[in-house]
Amino acid sequence: MKVIVTGGAGFIGGNFIHYMLENYKDYEICCFDFLTYAGNVETLAPIKDNKNFSLVVGDIADRDAVYSLFEEQKPDVVVNFAAESHVDRSILDPGIFLRTNVIGTGVLLDACRKYGIDRFHQVSTDEVYGDLPIDRPDLFFTETTPLHASSPYSASKASADLLVQAYYRTYNLPVTLSRCSNNYGPYHFPEKMIPLMIQRAKNNQSLPVYGDGSNVRDWLYVKDHCEAIDLILHKGKVGEVYNVGGHNERSNIEVVKQILRHLGKDESLIEYVADRPGHDRRYAIDPTKITTELGWTPKTGFDEGIAQTINWYLDNEDWTDHILSGDYQRYYEENYKNRAQINK
Ligand SMILES: NC(=O)c1ccc[n+]([C@@H]2O[C@H](COP(=O)([O-])OP(=O)(O)OC[C@H]3O[C@@H](n4cnc5c(N)ncnc54)[C@H](O)[C@@H]3O)[C@@H](O)[C@H]2O)c1
Repeated sequence: MKVIVTGGAGFIGGNFIHYMLENYKDYEICCFDFLTYAGNVETLAPIKDNKNFSLVVGDIADRDAVYSLFEEQKPDVVVNFAAESHVDRSILDPGIFLRTNVIGTGVLLDACRKYGIDRFHQVSTDEVYGDLPIDRPDLFFTETTPLHASSPYSASKASADLLVQAYYRTYNLPVTLSRCSNNYGPYHFPEKMIPLMIQRAKNNQSLPVYGDGSNVRDWLYVKDHCEAIDLILHKGKVGEVYNVGGHNERSNIEVVKQILRHLGKDESLIEYVADRPGHDRRYAIDPTKITTELGWTPKTGFDEGIAQTINWYLDNEDWTDHILSGDYQRYYEENYKNRAQINK
């Protein structure tokens, strides 16, 4: 089985490649990644000598590059993680989100049609559903909740989802989609809330919390997300959407305080800052479909997962320090300059 993983040098895609190589010794995994600011080859360093792994550097919105990739790799399966993924950045500059998340997904779908594929899996997000009121804990997103995006990021992801579903309906392309809640775990770029707070608390820096910190997110340990995608690829029904989430709802301020407690730091480090425009109040996934149809349940509860995550960042300070200092880009230059395709 040959699997192309786009965006595999990012947070979830990187974890997914590690997971797949560990669990499927006979699968060949090719990571296709443009190595934007969010892509980090150091995340892939532990597997760079694995004979079943290769890295091709390229842009999913570049049709020629994607078609060459398909001609060379002849994939059976494509899992699309590649995206601009940071809501705050999408508010500052929406254009790149349209290019990568919408046009890029369209180019991948065209390549799948042209070259043939057993499965195209789109990694999407619960943010396409918009948000839920904080005072209605009885409400959850299901797969039939209408799309109602709030930010340019979530609007671009919702657009990509519609394209994927249209290619199924119009061309019978074998697709599946997953819409997952917020992930946390190793290899998370330190601009995102949990790694940012760990990093700053560790260094006794102030912890910027948006608004009053009451916004609620439904947290899932990244490995549980990888297992869900694995199940959808192997047992999921073509044309279907699966919501993925573990009923681990926490307000942002609760998460920040838990990180401070774990690190033995004082809550006086918390600094409330102006809220994000259009900030979604609450996300909460109903995972009944994936649980009943595919037997998926998350294995890692939040208390265990957050402790493991904090400890991972403490044990892997070099990984974060290299990002913050820009050294990971130098690392790429030094290690990979003359071999854009590794292990090929
Ligand atoms: N992080 C979450 O909590 C979360 C939750 C649900 C869904 N998702 C979705 O999962 C996917 C991965 O998210 P993440 O947090 O790992 O993102 P990330 O920002 O950490 O990684 C994105 C990766 O995509 C690559 N990339 C960006 N533009 C590209 C392009 N034009 N061509 C090829 N590669 C490109 C980057 O270099 C990077 O390696 C995204 O599609 C996101 O919408 C994320």
